[in-house]
Amino acid sequence: MGERKTTQFPSPMPEKFIKLLEGFRVSKVLFAACELSIFDKLRSASVPQSASEITQTLSSNLDATTRLMDTLVAMELLEKSKQGDRWLYNNSEMATKFLTTESPDSALGLINLENNISYHFYGNLESAVKEGETQWERIYGKSSEEVFKEHYSTEDDTLRFMSAMHCNSLYGSYAVAKAMDLSEYSSCCDLGGAVGTLAYALCQFNPKMKITVCDLEPAVSLAHHFRPSVEACPNQANVSFAVGDFFKPETLPKAELYVLSHVLHDWSEDKVDLILSNVYKCLPSGGGLLICEQILNEDKSGPLPALLNCLLMLVETGGKERSASEYKLLLEKHGFVDVQAKKVYFSKDAILCKKL
Ligand SMILES: C[S@@+](CC[C@H](N)C(=O)[O-])C[C@H]1O[C@@H](n2cnc3c(N)ncnc32)[C@H](O)[C@@H]1O
Repeated sequence: MGERKTTQFPSPMPEKFIKLLEGFRVSKVLFAACELSIFDKLRSASVPQSASEITQTLSSNLDATTRLMDTLVAMELLEKSKQGDRWLYNNSEMATKFLTTESPDSALGLINLENNISYHFYGNLESAVKEGETQWERIYGKSSEEVFKEHYSTEDDTLRFMSAMHCNSLYGSYAVAKAMDLSEYSSCCDLGGAVGTLAYALCQFNPKMKITVCDLEPAVSLAHHFRPSVEACPNQANVSFAVGDFFKPETLPKAELYVLSHVLHDWSEDKVDLILSNVYKCLPSGGGLLICEQILNEDKSGPLPALLNCLLMLVETGGKERSASEYKLLLEKHGFVDVQAKKVYFSKDAILCKKL
């Protein structure tokens, strides 16, 4: 009895630790279910479905599909109920909102990019940390100079990247547009503005502002897919699109306010310097620059989503995320003044500055 009492048990793994350990599995279950269109299939069926009915529409394996669907129930993406002796599955509210194609809040474009691109880059994190380099060469046998060319190699690839940018930016764009007082500017140019997600948000909060979205030709040519309805965005006529290259200042539309949203974090230090000096050149005196990025804590201890993105930039683009004081130093080096940083939303914070 005495010996039993003194037996030392090994420490149980805390739930928080197990979640860290197995986090990639959870993401991969989500990605696989989206690739297989499970949420869309359940949405288009007018009544809850059994695993065997879903298996038939997917031409998949019944046991494997049931395991996947039960896991999705545990992840609160599906709900399961018993009717007679049959178990039936339906989308949870969260899945209907974010994981079905029809939903205006659909995150499927972003999930597609995470599964097909980011997942592979993150799979090479160890090499990136050892080498301090992007992993394009290792994964695709190409240099990282080709990042956007690669995303735009076919129309489908371009549409996938644009859908991902749109859904990554949607809520944050409205949050930034609401948080920032830009009323002194009557014209704006969103450089690398993709399909206009931020521009449409800005025009709602700044009804007198004319906004040009300037991007590479493949992005601009697909922007019409993302144009909101007049009911959803009554000022949408104030948004127009132009093809331009932020490395070539002569191609950039003139504006009193330039925006760089999730652009600077894509580029190496020398390219960031080139973009900022081009913007400074193009701005009239008194003009503004609004940068939207995730701002790191000053001690770089968080926020976790910004740090995870900073690692993604390491493996994929050669860029990085920065703290507010790093942005201030960078912008002042280029002659900008009155640099103000504002925390807004986990995926989009704001830094506003001026040219004297
Ligand atoms: C990470 S995305 C950000 C998109 C959008 N601003 C947002 O916040 O979601 C970077 C954008 O920069 C654009 N881009 C890349 N190189 C460019 C260049 N040289 N000139 C103009 N736009 C460029 C890409 O086409 C892409 O739309």
